[in-house]
Amino acid sequence: MAVLSFMLMSFYLLFSYSKILNADDTLSQYLSDGMTIISKTETFELGFFSPGNSNNRYVGIWYKNIPVKTIVWVANREKPINDLSGLLMINSTTGNLVLSQNKTVVWSAIPKRKAQNPVLQLLDTGNLVLREVNDENAEDFLWQSFDYPSDTFLPGMKLGKDLRTGLDRRLTSWKNQYDPSPGNLTWGVSITSYPEAVMWLGSKKYYRSGPWNGVQYNGKPIAQRHPYYNFQYFEDKNEVYEGYQLINKSLLARMVLNQTINLRYQYVWIEEKKNWRMLVSLPRDFCDTYGACGPNGNCDSKKLPSCECLKGYQSKYPGRWNLLDFSDGCVTKEKLNCQTDGFVKYGDMKVPDTEYSWLNKTMTLENCREKCLNNCSCMAYTNPDVRGDGSGCVMWFGDLNDVRVQQDGGMDLYIRVPASELGSTGGLKWKIGLIVGSAIIKISGMLLVIYYTCRSRINQKKYRAMLGHTSEEQKDDLELPLFDLPKIASATDNFSIGNKLGEGGFGPVYKGTLDDGQEIAVKRLSLSSGQGLNEFKNEVILIAKLQHRNLVKLLGCCIQNKEKLLIYEYMPNKSLDFFIFDQTRGKLLEWSKRFHIICGIARGLLYLHQDSRLRIIHRDLKAGNVLLDSKMNPKISDFGLARTFGGDQSVANTDRVVGTYGYMAPEYAIEGNFSAKSDVFSFGILLLEIVTGKRNSGFYCPDDSFNLIEYAWTLWREERPLELIDECIIESCNLSEVRRCIHISLLCLEQHPHDRPSMSSVVLMSGSDVALPQPQQPGFFIGEHSHIVYSSTFNKASPSINGLSITVLKAR
Ligand SMILES: *[C@@H]1O[C@H](CO)[C@@H](O)[C@H](O)[C@H]1NC(C)=O
Ligand SMILES: *[C@@H]1O[C@H](CO)[C@@H](O)[C@H](O)[C@H]1NC(C)=O
Ligand SMILES: *[C@@H]1O[C@H](CO)[C@@H](O)[C@H](O)[C@H]1NC(C)=O
Ligand SMILES: *[C@@H]1O[C@H](CO)[C@@H](O)[C@H](O)[C@H]1NC(C)=O
Ligand SMILES: *[C@@H]1O[C@H](CO)[C@@H](O)[C@H](O)[C@H]1NC(C)=O
Ligand SMILES: *[C@@H]1O[C@H](CO)[C@@H](O)[C@H](O)[C@H]1NC(C)=O
Ligand SMILES: *[C@@H]1O[C@H](CO)[C@@H](O)[C@H](O)[C@H]1NC(C)=O
Repeated sequence: MAVLSFMLMSFYLLFSYSKILNADDTLSQYLSDGMTIISKTETFELGFFSPGNSNNRYVGIWYKNIPVKTIVWVANREKPINDLSGLLMINSTTGNLVLSQNKTVVWSAIPKRKAQNPVLQLLDTGNLVLREVNDENAEDFLWQSFDYPSDTFLPGMKLGKDLRTGLDRRLTSWKNQYDPSPGNLTWGVSITSYPEAVMWLGSKKYYRSGPWNGVQYNGKPIAQRHPYYNFQYFEDKNEVYEGYQLINKSLLARMVLNQTINLRYQYVWIEEKKNWRMLVSLPRDFCDTYGACGPNGNCDSKKLPSCECLKGYQSKYPGRWNLLDFSDGCVTKEKLNCQTDGFVKYGDMKVPDTEYSWLNKTMTLENCREKCLNNCSCMAYTNPDVRGDGSGCVMWFGDLNDVRVQQDGGMDLYIRVPASELGSTGGLKWKIGLIVGSAIIKISGMLLVIYYTCRSRINQKKYRAMLGHTSEEQKDDLELPLFDLPKIASATDNFSIGNKLGEGGFGPVYKGTLDDGQEIAVKRLSLSSGQGLNEFKNEVILIAKLQHRNLVKLLGCCIQNKEKLLIYEYMPNKSLDFFIFDQTRGKLLEWSKRFHIICGIARGLLYLHQDSRLRIIHRDLKAGNVLLDSKMNPKISDFGLARTFGGDQSVANTDRVVGTYGYMAPEYAIEGNFSAKSDVFSFGILLLEIVTGKRNSGFYCPDDSFNLIEYAWTLWREERPLELIDECIIESCNLSEVRRCIHISLLCLEQHPHDRPSMSSVVLMSGSDVALPQPQQPGFFIGEHSHIVYSSTFNKASPSINGLSITVLKAR
C-alpha cells in the first residue's frame, strides 16, 4: 500500500515502502519532485510531470505500467511550478494538502475537517485520498481527487452533484495537450427535474446524453450493450450522479474530453498493441450536436437534409431553412388553442432538453396527457421510465430543443399539435377552418413555389459559378484542331518507349513536345473499333466540348493511316496514384491538398454527370485517371471514351476492360448496369483511398477485413473511423473534415445505386456542414462468413464483363 504518513514516522513506511521513500526519514514528510507514490497493485502512480516538451511541473496521476504516458488527473492545473523545487505535503497546522514552491503555496486541497492522524493514499482506482490512518471507509474520506476531476472520467468515479454540499463534479478539458489548465469543454450532470448528462462548450450546451430512462441514457445508443462498460445512474434526495464500471475489472479504460476536436472519447487499453483503442466519440454525428435543427426541429440522420420541423411546426425562416441553415428552427404553424389541441406520437426519439420540464414518477400516461392538455404551456409529455409498460409523467414547457430520431434507446414522445393536425374527424367549425386554412396554404404554397423558382434560377447561376464552371458551351461551333501524324510522331520521338507515360484504358500514352515548345500528352488508341472515321471525329468533337477546370483538356486529334490519336494538355505531376500510394511522395500531399483534390474531382464528375450537355458517365474513375497539374489541381482524364469505345458491353469488345476492378460498383460488375451512380461508387472508393493512402484492391487488411471498404465499414461501425487516416497526413489533417470525407465515401459506397447520393449532393456535402444521413452497409461488403456472397451471380454474368474481376473477387 503506497501510503505517505505525515504524522508518525512508522517503520511500516520505512521498511515496506523504501522504494518510494528511499532516502532518509524526513522524506516521508513530503513528496518532492522526482519521488512518486504508487498504488497497491501498481496501476497508478502519483508524482511530478511535465506535459509534452514543456518545462512546467505539475503534480498528477498517471498509469504506472503502460508505455504511453497517460495523465488522468492534475492537481495544480492552473499554476505550474517552473523548477524542480515543488513539494507536496500535509500542513500539520491546518491539515490541508498543499503544494508549495519555495514556501509559497501553489495549490491546496482542503479536507472536510482536520484529520488527527492523516494519511495520503493513492488507491488502485486512481483516486488520491486523504483519510485518517485507520479509517478506510470511503464515506469518511476527508478529501479525494475523484471529487475534483480533471479531463478524465475513470471507472468508479461519480460525475454529478452532491445536493447536500453543492459539490458539482464535472470534467473539464485541458486547454491543449501541453497545457492542463481548464479549457472550455466541460461535462457534467445537469440537475433538472429529469436530469441528464451534458457536455458544454463554453457556456453553451454542446451535447446531451439524454436522461436515464430506467434502462439506459436515452441518447446514447450503445450504452446498454457496451462491450466493456456498465453504465450507472443514481438519483436520490442527497445526490445525482452518473458513473460506470468495467465489466472486466482487469482492463484499463477511461473517457476523456478533448478540446482540440471537441469530443469526448472512450478508450480501452489494448495490451497486445500497446496502445489505447478509441471506442466511441461523442457527439457521434450532426444530429448529436446540441440543437442541430434548432428549436422544435427534429433531426433524422437517415434523411437528407436531416432536419425537419416537428408536426404542427414550420420553419421560422423558410429561406434560411432551405439553404440548410437550421439554427432558427421551427415555430408553430397556427396558434395552439389549448383545450381543443391534441397530441401526435413519435416513437424512438431522443426526448427534448429537460431544462424546462416537470416530472412525477407515479402518474400514468393517461393522467399525464390530461395534465399536459390542461396546461397550455405544456408542449410534450411521455413516460420517463420505459421499464415494463412505462411509468411516470414528464412534461416539457416552451420550445422543444434538441430532438432527434434515436433508433436504439429511443423513447415515445407525445407532441402537442392543434386539432387540425390530427387528421381525425371533428366539428364542422374546424373543418371549415381547415378548408379555408388549406386554401390559404395552397395559395401561399404557390407563391412560395414561384418565389423559389425565381430564386433558384438566380441561385443556379451562383451555384454554377461556385462549381467553377467555365462558360462552357458558349463556343458551340468550336472546331477541333486536327494534328498531323508526322508532327505528332516527331513530337513524341516516334512514340519512343522513353516517352511513354503509361498505359491507359484505351491505349498507351506518350509525352510529346511540339515545335513551339508546348508539352502534350498523346493517347494512341489501340483499338480497331468498327466505328467509321466520321463517327469517331464527331464523338471526339463532342468530348472536346467538355471543358471544365477539373477535366483534362483535349487539344485535338489525329486520324491518319489507321492511327487514331488524341492530344491532351500535359500534366507535369503525373497522376494521383503516383502520390497517395507511396509513403514518401504521400507526405507531399498534405491533407489540405488532398481535400482540394477531392473537391476538384467531385466538381469535375458533377460536370460530366449533370452540367455538360452530354451527360457523360465516366465508368473508369480511379486514382490513375486523376491527373495533377503543376499546382496540384486535379483533372479527370479518360472521360467520354467509354461512351465512344466502351459501347454496349454485351456486344463485340468483350476483351476491353472498361472499369477497373476495385472501383466498380456491384451492379456494374455483376450485371453490367452502369449509371451515374456507379461513378459515384468509384468516387467513394477513390475518396477512401485518398484518406487512407491504401489501394482498395490488394489491400492488406489489419483486421482480417476482406477489402478496404469492409475495413472502413468495420471501423465506422465501431465508431473509430479516424483510425483509417493515412499516417502521412495525420498531422496535417483536419479531423472533422476527414471524418466527413469518410462519411461521404460510405454513403457513396452503398449497395443500392438509388441510395447513393448524386454528385451534386456530394459536392454540397463536402463543401458545407450539411447534415449527413447515416450510411448503410456498403456494396461488395463481404462478411466474415459470407465472403462468396456474390460469386454465384457473378459467374452467371461473367460473359458480359471482363474475366479479371471474377478471379480477383474470389481471392482471399
Ligand atoms: C501551515 O499553514 C500555516 C497557516 O497557513 C502556515 O503559517 C505554516 O507556515 C504552514 N506550515 C508549513 C510547514 O508550511
Ligand atoms: C525563495 O523566496 C525568497 C523570498 O521570496 C527569495 O528571496 C528567494 O530567492 C527564493 N528562492 C528561490 C530559489 O527562488
Ligand atoms: C486531443 O486529440 C488530439 C488529436 O487526436 C491529440 O493530438 C491530443 O493529444 C488530444 N489532446 C489531449 C489533451 O489529449
Ligand atoms: C475554446 O477555447 C479555445 C482555445 O482555448 C478557443 O480557440 C475557442 O474559440 C473556445 N471556444 C469557445 C466556444 O469558447
Ligand atoms: C479480462 O481481461 C484480461 C486482460 O485483457 C483477460 O486476460 C481476461 O481473460 C479477461 N477476463 C474475462 C472474464 O474476459
Ligand atoms: C405524483 O402524482 C401522484 C398521483 O397523481 C400524486 O399522488 C403525487 O402527489 C404526485 N407527486 C408529486 C411529487 O407531485
Ligand atoms: C403549467 O405548468 C407550469 C410548470 O409546472 C406552471 O408553472 C404553470 O403555472 C402551469 N400553468 C397552468 C395554467 O397550470
